[in-house]
Amino acid sequence: MFDSIAPRYDLMNAVMTFGQHQSMRRSAARIAQPPRNGLALDLATGTGDFAIALQEVEPTCRVVGVDFAVEMMRLGQTKYNGQVQFTAGDMLKLPMPDNIFDCTVNGFVLRNVADVRTAFTEMYRVLKPGGRAVSLEITSPRTPIWKDIFGIYFDHMMPRIGGWLSGNPDAYRYLPQSVHDFLAPEAVVDLMRAVGFHDVYFRRWALGSMAIYVGIK
Ligand SMILES: C[S@@+](CC[C@H](N)C(=O)[O-])C[C@H]1O[C@@H](n2cnc3c(N)ncnc32)[C@H](O)[C@@H]1O
Repeated sequence: MFDSIAPRYDLMNAVMTFGQHQSMRRSAARIAQPPRNGLALDLATGTGDFAIALQEVEPTCRVVGVDFAVEMMRLGQTKYNGQVQFTAGDMLKLPMPDNIFDCTVNGFVLRNVADVRTAFTEMYRVLKPGGRAVSLEITSPRTPIWKDIFGIYFDHMMPRIGGWLSGNPDAYRYLPQSVHDFLAPEAVVDLMRAVGFHDVYFRRWALGSMAIYVGIK
């Protein structure tokens, strides 16, 4: 699905978030604290925007982006040639050894994976002790009135705009459905603790439509 929408993926992100998506990734990348001369991993990197946010926060840090949608990464390579090391792989079975990354990030993927617990287990495995995992994901706002306004946009308008712009209506009908079907933020942090992360927390961003999850190995 992601390979088929790859040419319009960045444009759709800009439209859907009213241009805010890059600044959210940058804020999350700062929270990941990539160290000087360190090694960072962006899981499900897609077109590499989260990976490059890590690079911008700490230009001496080497950033690896992994995804199994090769067309998405091909576009990322064109945008960020040489700045991100793109690698094909499944984030549920990372092609990397244990204890090598100073931090991991991932954006807008947790609700897409077949097994969220395995995703966190893999992040934990490849992180060095003391390393930080940061995840960013869309979530449903809970504030009365705002949640209804957001619902009209996200559930009804956005799938039409996305279908029209991307030429793949199914992909943008799937997006709100995947958010509704996903775990509540409280359950996500429970899973992170269950696989071994400590100092785990989540915060709601963007008027409650995004959640950032943080944990330390
Ligand atoms: C919504 S895009 C997010 C891309 C990028 N993280 C961003 O911030 O724009 C979701 C990405 O997750 C990737 N993905 C989903 N499941 C995956 C898995 N098991 N392993 C690797 N990549 C995966 C898809 O191929 C797609 O590129």
